[in-house]
Amino acid sequence: MMQLALTVNSPEWDKPQFRQVAGGFKVPKGSTCVVSIYFLHRDKDVFPDPEKFDPDRFLPENSVKIPEYGYIPFFAGPRNCIGQKFAIMETKTIVSSILRNYTIESLDSRNKVLPQMQVTLYPSIPIRVRIRPRRI
Ligand code: HEM
Repeated sequence: MMQLALTVNSPEWDKPQFRQVAGGFKVPKGSTCVVSIYFLHRDKDVFPDPEKFDPDRFLPENSVKIPEYGYIPFFAGPRNCIGQKFAIMETKTIVSSILRNYTIESLDSRNKVLPQMQVTLYPSIPIRVRIRPRRI
C-alpha cells in the first residue's frame, strides 16, 4: 500500500478539502490512495490475455510497449523496494537451481487455486506439487 504524494495543479481544485493526484483524479485531502499492483498487471490494454503464462511479453522488443508505470512489481518512485536487485538475483539463483534438477508439476488446476489478498498475495488453498528429479 502506498500513500501517494498529493499535488495541487488546478485552480478549481485548489481548495483545502481537495487535492489532485496524477491522472487528474480528484480526491479528498488526507485520503489514502492504494495502487493495486495485482490489477495494474492485469490491465488488458497493456497485457492482453493477462492470466496466460507468456514470458515473451518481456522480450526486449515487447517490453518497450509497456508504459513506464505499467509494470511495477517493486513499485516506483522514492519509496520503491530497496531489496529489488537482491530479490531478483536470489530468485534467479534459487529457481534456476531447482529447475535444472527437478521437474515441478501442479496437482491442482489454476481455477482451483485462487489468489487471496492479504498483506501479500496468498493461494486460497495449499498448492500441491509433484517434484521429480530430472534425468540428465
Ligand atoms: C520478490 C520480492 C519482493 C517484492 C515483489 C517486493 C516488493 C516491494 C514493494 C511493492 C514495495 C513498496 C511497498 C509500498 O510502497 O507500500 C517494497 C518496499 C520495500 N521492500 Fe520489497 N519486495 C521484495 C523483496 C524485498 C527484499 C528481499 C527486501 C530486503 C532485503 C525488501 C525490502 C523492502 C523495503 C525495506 C521496502 C520499503 C522501502 C521504503 O518504504 O522506502 N524487499 N517491496
